[in-house]
Amino acid sequence: MELLIHDTPRDVATAASSRVAELITTSGDDFTLGLAGGSTPRATYEILRDQPISWEKVDIWLSDERWVPHLHSRSNGAMAQEALIDHIEARFHRPTWDEGLTPADSAALYETRLRSMLEGRPPDVIMLGIGDDGHTASLFPGTRALEQRDSWYVANHVPQLGEDRLTATFPLLWSAGLLLVVAVGTGKATALKTTFEGDTPAGMLDNGDASVEWHVDREAASLVR
Ligand code: 6PG
Repeated sequence: MELLIHDTPRDVATAASSRVAELITTSGDDFTLGLAGGSTPRATYEILRDQPISWEKVDIWLSDERWVPHLHSRSNGAMAQEALIDHIEARFHRPTWDEGLTPADSAALYETRLRSMLEGRPPDVIMLGIGDDGHTASLFPGTRALEQRDSWYVANHVPQLGEDRLTATFPLLWSAGLLLVVAVGTGKATALKTTFEGDTPAGMLDNGDASVEWHVDREAASLVR
């Protein structure tokens, strides 16, 4: 894992955006980008949308999603749509939410769609965040999805939140070219410390073939170095 410490949250967003733009620009004819949910990556997306990128070659998907309607204020897909997707010409693949679907059915449908999108290639870049408890994507401590080694995308009930999530699993994350994690603020300092001690789900990101870059600000890194 590579730890890249930037002065401010804005510097983190600028660095992460530049890194993604560089990788898309230097790639071949097609590129896949997994987006992180939560609030931290919004600033990155708002910079990324103004970069001179050939978005028509990019397929974008979600590393996780809350089990809520597409327009819900907690939807990661809705945030991505507003902060990035509505401003660019990339193809955007969202999990299906429907009252007639179970989270597990939706996750299985989404996995099929991801496998078709990837056509046997590894994901190029997957952006992620980290929660105060060290979760990443929707791989929360003590939840079943942490153990999943066959499926790429599953439903995951999170008792500590009392909600269902859909999430990429470690096999999919570990297969990526690059996992790019963004974290800012003192609220993430303890999570980063325990993560770099290997004691959190986010600390497991380094257990596969993917390169892992942590783009963090000084506050988030304050207990790591
Ligand atoms: C989600 C996420 C999750 C997020 C962390 C950090 O759906 O919540 O994908 O893994 O990245 O919880 O969230 P913040 O960026 O809001 O701190």
